[in-house]
Amino acid sequence: MTVLESSDFQLTGNQRLSRTASYDADGRADILSNRAFEVARSEITSWTGYQETPLRGLPGLARALGIGQLHYKDEGGRFGIGSFKALGGAYAVFRLLQKEIEGATGKHVHAAEILSGACKDITSRLTVTCATDGNHGRSVAWGAQMFGCRCVIYVHAGVSDGRCKAIAQYGAEVRRVPGNYDDAVRQADQDAKKSGWFVVSDTSYEGYVSVPRDVMQGYSIMVDEALRQLPAPPTHVFVQGGVGGLAASVCAHLWQRYGDRRPVYVVVEPEKADCLYRSAVAGKPVVVHGSLDTIMAGLACGEVSLIAWKILQPGTDAFMTVTDEAAAEMMRILADGRYGDAPIVSGESAVAGLVGLALAATDREAQAKLGLGPDSVALVFGTEGATDQDVYRQIVGRSAEQVCAAA
Ligand SMILES: Cc1ncc(COP(=O)(O)O)c(C=O)c1O
Repeated sequence: MTVLESSDFQLTGNQRLSRTASYDADGRADILSNRAFEVARSEITSWTGYQETPLRGLPGLARALGIGQLHYKDEGGRFGIGSFKALGGAYAVFRLLQKEIEGATGKHVHAAEILSGACKDITSRLTVTCATDGNHGRSVAWGAQMFGCRCVIYVHAGVSDGRCKAIAQYGAEVRRVPGNYDDAVRQADQDAKKSGWFVVSDTSYEGYVSVPRDVMQGYSIMVDEALRQLPAPPTHVFVQGGVGGLAASVCAHLWQRYGDRRPVYVVVEPEKADCLYRSAVAGKPVVVHGSLDTIMAGLACGEVSLIAWKILQPGTDAFMTVTDEAAAEMMRILADGRYGDAPIVSGESAVAGLVGLALAATDREAQAKLGLGPDSVALVFGTEGATDQDVYRQIVGRSAEQVCAAA
């Protein structure tokens, strides 16, 4: 059965997969670990407004795809920020302030103490900054406001006004720079060096590791929730990739929990911003240049995160690319509840993993390669809701509110 009219995709098996290697080998536990996860969980679950996001079953779509079960972890409501990113940037802001406070006072503080305003004289003198295509900057701005420091966010030419406003509402100064996401990353870095600000980036590069590690560790709260909500361990997990931080966090969590019996793991990107796919083919990180022009704004990244790659290269079974048209179609399928499922509001960057699954499950060769069939239990992460209402309405033809009302 055809589920998506736009059926173009690319799929490559990973030649460098080390399925039987221990997760802890090769320094992976220095990036993400169960111990650091427990710390992140105890802090993040103490923040006001913390709630597990729902895991939504899609039995109708699963039937149409010929698989046993399909589960969609819906991050649209995360902390009222609209995406899973709320877990990462804000957690990294907290960790950074925690270290600064410890350096100044010798005292190890928890989130509750900073939130009480007890450390305001230190935090109010600090500025955090980052580049963003929307969601990460919103999380950093929210975290800065919540924990009481200043915030300057850099956006590139392609970031919509709606997304800029969503960042500014948390009190951050938003600066627009020419070029693409990676140009904005460089500008934020330069200005931070000049002004003594702290860069809270979701991507890691040579010599910049500890902040993106905290960002990724924050994401693992979402993975842990999903695995506890699932009725049975998944056999297949499809996750969308931008710089790879999200995908590495999911991969590391599954690897630590299930070892070599972990699910088949597939990373999916837009065809126009496929740095992870190309890196997999080349066997080393490859940069994709150009405007990275895709509607999947959160995935419009041309350079892989170095620490994410250290987990993804040995841990991913296959890499895929999919088209913008297929992503838009999938947003409409979810909004309509087309196969008898309850309607879901999903943003442009939320559905790439699900698109990859839908295309692989309905293609004989890909199906066989990934072992997809009637016994498969698939998990995908719907990483954002309608983070830009205008864009959502243009693509789906109705507002997110109207879709919710029909649910
Ligand atoms: C909604 C959404 N999903 C997925 C991603 C991809 O995350 P990463 O860049 O860590 O690969 C992003 C990144 O901004 C995002 O905003």
